[in-house]
Amino acid sequence: MAEKLTDNEKEYYVLVRKVFAILAPFYDVIAAPFSGIRDRMVNFTNAQKGSKTLDVATGTGQQAFAFAKKGYDVVGIDLSEAILNVAKKKNKYKNAKFEVADATNLPFENNSFDISSISFALHEMPLSIREKVLKEMVRVTKPKGIIVIADYDLPKNKISKFLVYHFISLYETKYYKTFIKSDLEALLSKNRIKIMEKDTVMHGVGRILKGINNKLLY
Ligand SMILES: C[S@@+](CC[C@H](N)C(=O)[O-])C[C@H]1O[C@@H](n2cnc3c(N)ncnc32)[C@H](O)[C@@H]1O
Repeated sequence: MAEKLTDNEKEYYVLVRKVFAILAPFYDVIAAPFSGIRDRMVNFTNAQKGSKTLDVATGTGQQAFAFAKKGYDVVGIDLSEAILNVAKKKNKYKNAKFEVADATNLPFENNSFDISSISFALHEMPLSIREKVLKEMVRVTKPKGIIVIADYDLPKNKISKFLVYHFISLYETKYYKTFIKSDLEALLSKNRIKIMEKDTVMHGVGRILKGINNKLLY
């Protein structure tokens, strides 16, 4: 039986579908600052060609394409049909495909993927959704498989931190504030993702975390 959503979660689903239907045609321009992290994220996984890879909340598929370019066999999923249509139109890779799906309820069997990734999506989610998404990524990724996450961070320097926080808060949803103040690494660890490597990107405004799926075999 489907889990009952809280009012907060319902509000989030309505918002995501509405916002990304509007942003879909311009999303690649808006996301241009993230373009430098795509290949870095692939290199970070250090996996073999042909690795079965899931890109969660793929948006216009830029991260999925970076995996496909390196020979990974990739599926990108997203809640927004509008944004996935952009990904599908841009797709020139036989080893990349896209499906509409909710990351809190992935339409894949347990242990289906060698790698799963999520970039710049967790900060847009209420904590309860964020946690459900991580649980699903752990479920569909093989034990000891790689889970790679890119998202916002704050620079160490106090003035830069203040400026970046207030600037990003102007255009992101209300969930950014709770996300950036939360302990992402503790959340990953609670969900059996063991952090193996970290990288600071975009002058401290972003981070990439590479984890190993530390779940027990099931
Ligand atoms: C800021 S965009 C990031 C897109 C892409 N990963 C990137 O790095 O450019 C966030 C994406 O998360 C998707 N999303 C949000 N909640 C989702 C959910 N529950 N399931 C699947 N996709 C979701 C949105 O539709 C949107 O495409």
